[in-house]
Amino acid sequence: MSISGERYTISYDPLDQQVNFEGSLRAVNQADLDAIREYLGELHQRLEGTMRLNFRKLRYLSSAGLRIIIDFLKEASRARKLDIQLIGSKVVTWEEKTLSNLPALGEGIGFQVFDRNFYESQGIIEDAQFIPLLRNQTRLLWPLEREVLVRHGLREGLRVADICCGCGDVALLIARDLKPGFIVGVDHSLPAIEYASRLAKEFKVRNADFRLGDATALMLEDERFDFVLCRLSIQIFSRPELILKELARILKPGGRLYLIGEDYDLIVGYPNDEDIRAVYDAAGKYGRDIGMDLYNGKKLYSILNGLRLGNIRLDYLNVDTVNSDRQIFAEMIRSWRHFSAQTIGRELGLSGEAKGRLEGGYDAHLRTIQHPFGYSKWTVVAASGEKR
Ligand SMILES: C[S@@+](CC[C@H](N)C(=O)[O-])C[C@H]1O[C@@H](n2cnc3c(N)ncnc32)[C@H](O)[C@@H]1O
Repeated sequence: MSISGERYTISYDPLDQQVNFEGSLRAVNQADLDAIREYLGELHQRLEGTMRLNFRKLRYLSSAGLRIIIDFLKEASRARKLDIQLIGSKVVTWEEKTLSNLPALGEGIGFQVFDRNFYESQGIIEDAQFIPLLRNQTRLLWPLEREVLVRHGLREGLRVADICCGCGDVALLIARDLKPGFIVGVDHSLPAIEYASRLAKEFKVRNADFRLGDATALMLEDERFDFVLCRLSIQIFSRPELILKELARILKPGGRLYLIGEDYDLIVGYPNDEDIRAVYDAAGKYGRDIGMDLYNGKKLYSILNGLRLGNIRLDYLNVDTVNSDRQIFAEMIRSWRHFSAQTIGRELGLSGEAKGRLEGGYDAHLRTIQHPFGYSKWTVVAASGEKR
C-alpha cells in the first residue's frame, strides 16, 4: 500500500507498522497533500499500539507538507488511540531541528534519530582523527587493489558507488585511474565527506561526487549502479545486513557488489611472531568488545552467497614487507597502535597496564617490519558477486 507523486513515495511496511517517506515533499500540489492526509488518517484508524513515521529517506519537506504532519500528529494525540514514533536521520540536515520539536505537540508522540548511536564505535570511526589511518591503509592497498578491481569488473564508463567511502581516497583514485563514467562516494562522517570533497576539488576530479549519507537508508535509486564498493566497513557494524540490503538494492542486474573484509587471523610476521599473534588476538578481542568483527574477511564468500549474488570472485590482498614500502607499512602500524591502545582503550576504559601490553605488541610488530631481514604480511579479503 503506497502513494506517490512526482518526486516522493510514501509506503507502508506492515511488519513494523511503519510509514516510509522517500524523496522530496517540496512543491507538492493540494490534491497530493489531501491524499497524504487521507492516507495517514486511514492508517491511524486501522492500527493499534504504535505507528512509526520514518523520514530517514526524505530529502525535503515543504512547510505545507510539515503542516499536514503537524495536523495529523495533533489529531492523533487528541484521539490518544496510538503512540506515534517519528524516526529521523542524523545526515538529513533538516530533520533533527524540525522533528525534535514535534513531540511537544501532544501526548504519545516520540522522536528518535535512528543513526545517532547506530554502532558502538561510531564516535571514534567518524572522527577526523581516523582519517590518517585510512589514508595509510589506502597507500598500501591501492597498488595491489587497482588490478584486483579490474579483475572484478570495474572498467571505464561504469556508474560506480563507493558506500562508506571514508575520506574518499579510493573513490578518487578510481575516478582518475579507472575512468568510470561517474563515481559517487557516500559516508556518514561529515569530516570524511568534507575531506573527500576538498580533495576532489583540489585535483579537479569531475567524475566524482561525495555525499553525506547513511548506508542503511541510501538516497540513491534502485538498480542505478554497475559496480558498488563497500571497503573495510561491514566489519564495524553490529547489524551489517541493514547495509548489505541497500548495497544490493542500488546495484543493476548484472552489476557487481565488491566488499573488502579485514581478517586479523591473517596478519603474521617474523621475528617476534608470538608477540605479533598475541597483539592481534588481543586487538581482535577488544574490537569485538566495541562491536567490530575484525575477522569478517573469511565470511565474505558466505555473505555474498547469502545476498543471492552469483559468479563470485575472491582475492587476497597481501600487503607485505617484500611488495610494499616498509616505512609506509610501519606508519600504518603506528596508526593502528594509537587507535587500538589509545582510542579503543579509552572507549573500553582499559587499564594503563592493558594499554601498555597492546602498545608493546605493536612495538614488536614495528621492530619486525623495520628489521632488515624481518618479514610481515597484512592480508585483507576482496570479494565480489554479480546481481542476477
Ligand atoms: C573503516 S572506515 C572505511 C572507509 C573506507 N571505505 C576505506 O576503506 O578507507 C568505515 C567508514 O564507514 C563510515 N560509516 C559508518 N557508518 C556509516 C553509515 N551508516 N553510512 C555510511 N557510512 C558509514 C564511517 O564514517 C567510516 O568512514
